[in-house]
Amino acid sequence: MSQVDTADSEPRLAADTAIVKQYLDQAAMPEQLDSAELERYRSQVKKLMVEKNARLVAHYYTDSLLQDLAEESDGFVGDSLEMARFGRECDADILLVAGVRFMGESAKILSPDKTVLMPTLDATCSLDIGCPIERFAAFCNQHPERAVVVYANTSAAVKARSDWVVTSSIAVDVIEHLMDQGQKILWAPDKHLGRYIQKTTGADILLWDAACIVHEEFKARGLQDMRALYPQAAVLAHPESPAAVLEMADVIGSTTQIIAAARRLPNPEFIVATDQGIFHKLQQEAPDKRFIIAPTAGNDATCRSCANCPWMGMNSVHRLYDSLLAGDNEIEVDAVLAAQAMIPLQRMLDFASSNRLKVRGRA
Ligand code: 13P
Ligand code: SF4
Repeated sequence: MSQVDTADSEPRLAADTAIVKQYLDQAAMPEQLDSAELERYRSQVKKLMVEKNARLVAHYYTDSLLQDLAEESDGFVGDSLEMARFGRECDADILLVAGVRFMGESAKILSPDKTVLMPTLDATCSLDIGCPIERFAAFCNQHPERAVVVYANTSAAVKARSDWVVTSSIAVDVIEHLMDQGQKILWAPDKHLGRYIQKTTGADILLWDAACIVHEEFKARGLQDMRALYPQAAVLAHPESPAAVLEMADVIGSTTQIIAAARRLPNPEFIVATDQGIFHKLQQEAPDKRFIIAPTAGNDATCRSCANCPWMGMNSVHRLYDSLLAGDNEIEVDAVLAAQAMIPLQRMLDFASSNRLKVRGRA
C-alpha cells in the first residue's frame, strides 16, 4: 500500500524543490582556504578541543580534513546511527557535530547535559525540509492505527511525533520486527527508502512523499552504460536512491554498509551511488580498489547536486574553529520536545544493541 499518488505528488515535489532552493540560496558556502591556512586551523582546533574537553563527530560525507581531524583527536567518523551512539557514550563536555542539523539535534536529545556545537546551523537536509511537522502530524492523525516510523533525517518535532526513529542501517530490521508484531506502518519522509523497505520486507507501509536531492539525481540509464564500461565493477547504492537504480545494485546499504561491502567483496572496482564524500573512507579502507561515482543527471541545468550534498559541504575546519572558540552555533532543543523525541531514538539504540546489529548491506 502506498500513499504516494502521482496526481498529488508532482505539485508538492515542485513546491518542495522551490523551498530547498530557497534554503540553499540563503546559506553561504565556506570560503576556500589554502593548505597553510587549513593546517593552521587544524592544529588550533585540536588544541582548543583539548582545552575545552570537546570531541568531534563527523559524517562520512563531510570534508576529508574534518574526517581526519575527528579520527586523530579521539573523535569519530561514521554513519548517522553510529554518530548518535558515539555522541551519547563519549565523556566530552562539548560535542562538535560535523554533518547536518538533524545529526546535531539527535546528539543533543541523547546527551542533554552536553553542549552540542556545529560548524554552521544552516546545514539542513532536503528530507527534513520536505517533512514539516504540521503537515506530518495531520497525516499521522489521519492514520491512528499505524505505527509511525520516521527516518533519522527529520526534525526533533517530527521525531517526537513518532513511535520509532530509524537510520538506513537499521530500517529493514526494525520494520521486520514490527511486522512480526502484526503492525501496519506509516513511514516518512524518504519515499525511495520507504519503497525499498516495503519491497524488501513486504510490510504494509503508507509512504510520505519526500526525497534526498543528492540521491535522487542518480540515473539508471547512465548506470547501465557505466556497467558496460566497467564489467568487473560491483554497484554499491544507498537506499535513498531511486528504485530503478537500486534494482541494478549489487549491494544496497547505509554508508557504513557500503564501506563494509567495498572491503568484503572481491571486485577490483566499484560504482558508488551515494555522496562523493564517502570516497575518502572507501579509499582508506580499500586502498587497492577503484571507486567510480555513479552517473547523475550530468553537468546540465537539471543536476542540482552531482553527488555532493550541499549542506554537508557547508561544514569546514575554519567554521568549526570559530564555533568552538566562541561557543557559537549551539544546538538547542526544547526540553519537552527533546524528552518526547528521546523515546523513539532510545528505542532504536536499544533495538540495535539487543540485536547486535551487523553492518552488512543487503546483496
Ligand atoms: P547514513 O545513515 O547511511 O550515513 O545516511 C545519512 C544520510 O544522510 C544519507 O544521505
Ligand atoms: Fe539529506 Fe541527502 Fe544531504 Fe543526506 S545527502 S543529508 S539525505 S540532503
